[in-house]
Amino acid sequence: MTHPEDLEDVEIELLLEGVYRRYGYDFRDYALSSLRRRIRERVREERLTTVSGLKERVLHDPEAMERLAHGLSINVSTMFRDPDLYRVFRSKVVPILRTYPFIRIWHAGCSTGEEVYSMAILLHEEGLYERARLYATDINETVLHKAKSGIFPLKAMKQYPLTISRREARPPSPSTTPPSTRAPSSGRRSETTSSSRSTTSPPTAPSMSSTPSSAAT
Ligand SMILES: C[S@@+](CC[C@H](N)C(=O)[O-])C[C@H]1O[C@@H](n2cnc3c(N)ncnc32)[C@H](O)[C@@H]1O
Repeated sequence: MTHPEDLEDVEIELLLEGVYRRYGYDFRDYALSSLRRRIRERVREERLTTVSGLKERVLHDPEAMERLAHGLSINVSTMFRDPDLYRVFRSKVVPILRTYPFIRIWHAGCSTGEEVYSMAILLHEEGLYERARLYATDINETVLHKAKSGIFPLKAMKQYPLTISRREARPPSPSTTPPSTRAPSSGRRSETTSSSRSTTSPPTAPSMSSTPSSAAT
């Protein structure tokens, strides 16, 4: 006889399998403890009593699926969130990208867009932005909407690790002066918001979409 808590895990597994097969969203490898908490919350919010009830609803109602997807998505994001990634990208990947006439980068799960704009800044600083096209997708329309606006609080910008600069990524050269790696904020802008489409940033915003297929066109 299965313990009730184990039974709930079985139901969660069936829900996630169903979601994957019906909608193609794959949450099957998410951490179970976090899933349990978020799915229980969804069960309550949908005024249901079991995960099986949620599965039934989600499989037959795409809007319930949207609500579940929002409930399961964790949208934490900051500019240059993983500094080491950008350092290595600049020192190891950029030299390879230079050998290509055209670059396409896809940010799957872009959340509110900070990762995409960080990449745009880096490419701009490296003189590669003009030959690059950035695509960004997310399961969550709400965060995508924020990403598309390209507006980030100046207060938050000041806290980002904006020292992911060429100075750090490469050994200093006596013959060259490192260029400025200032964030794309402008002194002329208000203290509350700053768009990455300011004068120091790339000229056009990356494209953001909720569907990978449309991003690939
Ligand atoms: C923790 S955020 C990370 C954001 C950004 N990549 C970063 O590192 O700063 C993860 C994002 O992935 C999205 N996501 C999760 N599963 C997804 C899926 N199957 N398809 C598309 N986006 C997904 C979530 O909605 C969330 O916005």
